[in-house]
Amino acid sequence: MDTLLFDATLDDEARRTQLYDGQLFVYSPTPSSLGLVDLARQLIAEAFGSLDPETAQYHMPAEGYAAVLAELKPKFIHHPESKRLIQGMLRERGCSLEKTYFDVPRMRTATSDDYLTTGIAYAFHPHRDTWYSAPQCQLNWWLPIYAIESGRSMAFHPKYWSQPVRNSSRGYNYHEWNRSSRFNAAQHVKQDTRVQPRAEEQLELDPQIRVIAPVGGSLIFSAAQLHSTVPNQTGRTRFSIDFRTIHLDDVEAQRGAPNIDSACTGTTMADYLRASDLAHIPAEVIAQYDTPPIGAAS
Ligand SMILES: [Fe+2]
Repeated sequence: MDTLLFDATLDDEARRTQLYDGQLFVYSPTPSSLGLVDLARQLIAEAFGSLDPETAQYHMPAEGYAAVLAELKPKFIHHPESKRLIQGMLRERGCSLEKTYFDVPRMRTATSDDYLTTGIAYAFHPHRDTWYSAPQCQLNWWLPIYAIESGRSMAFHPKYWSQPVRNSSRGYNYHEWNRSSRFNAAQHVKQDTRVQPRAEEQLELDPQIRVIAPVGGSLIFSAAQLHSTVPNQTGRTRFSIDFRTIHLDDVEAQRGAPNIDSACTGTTMADYLRASDLAHIPAEVIAQYDTPPIGAAS
């Protein structure tokens, strides 16, 4: 991992190859990415009423704030328009809509000054998404909703692209997590008791790379990148969108970033929707990735 490509003109296949080698891609806003940001802003404005969303945290108790997010975030995730706009983004980025699958977009918040860092506003410790049962070919797309700065962004820790981290992913099973934890996010206001895969060794987070794209600009990276939420002390909450994609050819060929340290079980493969018609991945393909749940007879 040594290169950040800005507005690269590579085709999707060449881009995926470089992403699986750890490179980062950043693109200027497109009509659909700006549309997605506009949709998010509309829903945010409705949720916070007269308050400025980036500073609303200073005018509400954390429990009330968590309740606002608990209503706002699912509204965005499941809005029919958000899927249509992602289809548009993929088309504008040269992805095949027949071969590219995506999962529903998430809205994330990183509040300032440790106001709310658990549950519905979880501040992500350094992790790879592949510790959370994502396939090695998953790509993550990330867009800021309002202008960001380095102090309220996300960080990559490039040293660990090729260096394994001792971690607890062996205890993580995606299906188990869905059953027990995911839908309780808003309840974890003061403390987050959900078991998540973590590093089991001291990490050196520097040198790190933070990419500051303009509003609606998109950052694309491999799910195998070690990344974290930058502890926000800027006095403004960060709002961002992310979603994930996979390409069927890579899924079938078991192509993707190298797995150097992930031992989780289960798979997120059933979550992705084909960009052309929102169909799921064929069940027999999902089954190839679905390693047995913890405790299951082998
Ligand atoms: Fe992540």
